[in-house]
Amino acid sequence: MPKILVLNGPNLNMLGVREPDVYGTVTLESIEASLREAAARLGVEIECFQSNHEGALIDRIHASFGRVDGILINPGALTHYSYALRDALSAVALPVVEVHLSNIHRREPFRHVSVIAPVAVGQIAGFGAFGYELGLMALVREIGARAGSGREGA
Ligand code: DQA
Repeated sequence: MPKILVLNGPNLNMLGVREPDVYGTVTLESIEASLREAAARLGVEIECFQSNHEGALIDRIHASFGRVDGILINPGALTHYSYALRDALSAVALPVVEVHLSNIHRREPFRHVSVIAPVAVGQIAGFGAFGYELGLMALVREIGARAGSGREGA
């Protein structure tokens, strides 16, 4: 069964109380619970990790090498400036889908740039908590497609 690492970056542990007009009232715990249900429906296994520390996220990405088939990530504000996080994702060379609750492209100009996007298969933004489920579906499809093309080449 394919395994997916779900990563959440700084301040996402505060969902539910953090700027509800921007991020909604749903907690990270409930997003992860819904994702587990979605994962079961899609026939994949997920492991979830949140940290407010860039290095802890990077360590977790390195530790996933050879253990998981893809990464679903909301990097929080690290999206906009963390070359280190981007390099970690490149290093493990796994399919990555980037998720944001808010539509970062209609917010402050500094949020319009994602340094993660160039190493991701794609980005989903603006659909609130539902974006995580959309991202999981997209990632599962990508993993399936890569496995299929691998077999054809064998
Ligand atoms: C966010 C958008 C980022 O700009 C912000 O720093 C976050 C959350 C989102 O999910 O909309 O922490 O990634």
